[in-house]
Amino acid sequence: MKRVFSGIQPTGNIHLGNYLGALRQFVDLQKDNECIYCIVDMHAITVPKDPETLKKNIMDVAALYLAIGIDPDKSIVFVQSDVPGHAELSWILTCSSYTGELSRMTQYKQKSKMQESAPTGLFMYPVLMAADILLYDTNIVPVGDDQKQHIELTRDLAKRVNGKYGEDTFVIPEGRYMKSGARIMSLDDPSSKMSKSAENEYSRIQLLDSPSKIKKSIMRATTDSEGIIRYDVENQPGLANLLNIYSVVTEKPVEDIVKEYDGKGYGALKKDLAEILIESLAPIQKSYNDIRNSDELKRILADGAEKANAIAEKTVKRVKDNFGLGNRF
Ligand code: TYM
Repeated sequence: MKRVFSGIQPTGNIHLGNYLGALRQFVDLQKDNECIYCIVDMHAITVPKDPETLKKNIMDVAALYLAIGIDPDKSIVFVQSDVPGHAELSWILTCSSYTGELSRMTQYKQKSKMQESAPTGLFMYPVLMAADILLYDTNIVPVGDDQKQHIELTRDLAKRVNGKYGEDTFVIPEGRYMKSGARIMSLDDPSSKMSKSAENEYSRIQLLDSPSKIKKSIMRATTDSEGIIRYDVENQPGLANLLNIYSVVTEKPVEDIVKEYDGKGYGALKKDLAEILIESLAPIQKSYNDIRNSDELKRILADGAEKANAIAEKTVKRVKDNFGLGNRF
């Protein structure tokens, strides 16, 4: 059995990109693997957050994890800051990382470019992410395309440490990316990825959106003036994004969808896609509403933290031992 680890930030607005790129894989991987799914609240505070909103968002993500089909009897579900090993290992890894490699991270460059002085947490974000993964001797990390660079950094750090402190220090993990769905683009600007933080709420479909919001977002989605349905990412990126979403959700090949809508125009395609999305998100929304207010949720997270901590403690002990840290080994 392989060990799977992944996480999502409790920043609200969880959208179709998060689902099709990452969350959907979380559910499938449960069948044959030992899975650990985290709510990475310490990553969320790299950008200042209102404490009450953060608390609410953590529970929202926990409920969403279960609503999409993560089974707490099979997988460990927990909140990052409930397991101290994440912060501990993050420091140890920090001492093996270089400012040069961290300043080359695209996500850091994008998020810091608007600010005169970037928060140190944003800079260290990928090291904490590496700690998350390495703490559980993870083999597989299911994520969207945008996390590839962070996964590569994690692998580099692990190999570097192993070379210096012993090959048994870390397991080298691998990223797992969906063939289609790994990069869902924004509906109003198909040159950037669909994101939780974009100002225009119609640029994304959130998993908990109402049918009318879903309809509006799809009908307003940016396309082009060609008026011909074909899959051409270069020249018709907005349409290609819609065809891609359609294909991933229905599991129909893009070519079949193109044929089906040949001569029908963008309106018909958009109308059907909106219906398909409304229908496929309805069961998730229904179970979300049942779970969100149940007392079970807190118990599941407490239980998950205990199980995660038991694994994490062993890794921290091994790593400290290899580094010569502490006096209790
Ligand atoms: P977050 O919360 O920003 O994103 C959660 C997951 O959603 C994927 N994703 C997308 N996939 C396809 N299309 C998009 N438009 C899109 N937008 C987001 C992300 O790739 C991610 O898999 N850094 C992580 C959180 C994290 C983590 C970890 C993940 C912290 N520690 C350890 C794995 C392992 C992140 O981006 O979360």
